[in-house]
Amino acid sequence: MERLLLTSLVGLEGYVLGELEELGYRAKVIRKGRIEARGHVPLFNYVLRTVERVILLIDVEEDVQTLKEVLDVVASVDWDEYIPLDRSFAVRTERIGEHPFRSLDVEREAGGVIVDWFLGRYGRRPPVNLEDPWVTVRVDVDEDTVFVGLDTTGGKALHRRGWRVYHHPAALNTTLASALIRESSWKDVLLDPMAGGGTIPIEAELGRRRVPHFLFRSFAFERWGRWNIWRWRRKLRKRIRWIVDDIYGMDKFTKHVRGCKENLRPAGTARVRCFKGDATRLERLPFTPTHVVTNPPYGLKIANPRAVDELYAGFAASAREAGVEEIVLITTKWQRMARYLEEEGYTVEVKGEVLYGKLPVKLMVARR
Ligand SMILES: C[S@@+](CC[C@H](N)C(=O)[O-])C[C@H]1O[C@@H](n2cnc3c(N)ncnc32)[C@H](O)[C@@H]1O
Repeated sequence: MERLLLTSLVGLEGYVLGELEELGYRAKVIRKGRIEARGHVPLFNYVLRTVERVILLIDVEEDVQTLKEVLDVVASVDWDEYIPLDRSFAVRTERIGEHPFRSLDVEREAGGVIVDWFLGRYGRRPPVNLEDPWVTVRVDVDEDTVFVGLDTTGGKALHRRGWRVYHHPAALNTTLASALIRESSWKDVLLDPMAGGGTIPIEAELGRRRVPHFLFRSFAFERWGRWNIWRWRRKLRKRIRWIVDDIYGMDKFTKHVRGCKENLRPAGTARVRCFKGDATRLERLPFTPTHVVTNPPYGLKIANPRAVDELYAGFAASAREAGVEEIVLITTKWQRMARYLEEEGYTVEVKGEVLYGKLPVKLMVARR
């Protein structure tokens, strides 16, 4: 097992711990959006659904103030263990907090330190490739702590699952969709009544069936030859379940319904049903949508500010009428949504705040 740093959207750390616990791994949240765990690189990349990146930790140093101190940490690593001379690399930095240097300075200078390290030992150096490096070295500075590691996930973070062919203009991050689904206690029937391109229904089906990500995309670590990826792939294929649940994605607009259907094929989730319908008319559905998980519009781009109130109020009333027992959702307008749901007899619990891009959204659960 290796020492790993998992990154997630800020606010999803608890869901990452939950996923790891189910797999039998212990972990701890060390910073916002950063979870440290001992585990297996292939397994974590292939199955975790609420994580953005899996970083193989090389060194962590605290009480680091200056760029020179950051670079000293980089210089102390035996780089030939991680970067072959004939393979390209790049340094990427995420910086959180106030520092007398920029992320770009760290990337450029740390790259130079690694080049000098090789030149000093071998008189030769691996090439830098910023577009498509064979290995990406992470030098993250979070307040006064430096994390040096290798990004095993690669150029595309894990939320880029590889199945999306229809890109809804407000497509939900798949890791956030997975967190919402984990919050739901759905058993047989799940409906997203404002499904757009179908992220939530598709993630629900893939998660429940334990479909690993390698069916849809590749990862940086697969090129490195450090792990027996075929053993992991064989093992994880055997874990796939073939259960059938009733999962529905509905939207008001034909364009999005078509897009939702387009996404089903590459995701291999043909049993999900995408259809046209109105989230304020759930009582007209030919089935009882006992469990709803959704990501409604926040009304940020709508000219008429009353429209979002009408939608939320209509949705809450029709959910009650249709027999919806539980609703899990995220919105920036959580107070209004909570008020409408409570007026319809739901008990609302705000589960936490997630930083989604620059937008703080609240994840809430309503039950009757
Ligand atoms: C934030 S988007 C959902 C994006 C989706 N989660 C995805 O990842 O593609 C909200 C969706 O609600 C739909 N919508 C708005 N009002 C609706 C209504 N009354 N009934 C059904 N869908 C509605 C919009 O068309 C839009 O696609």
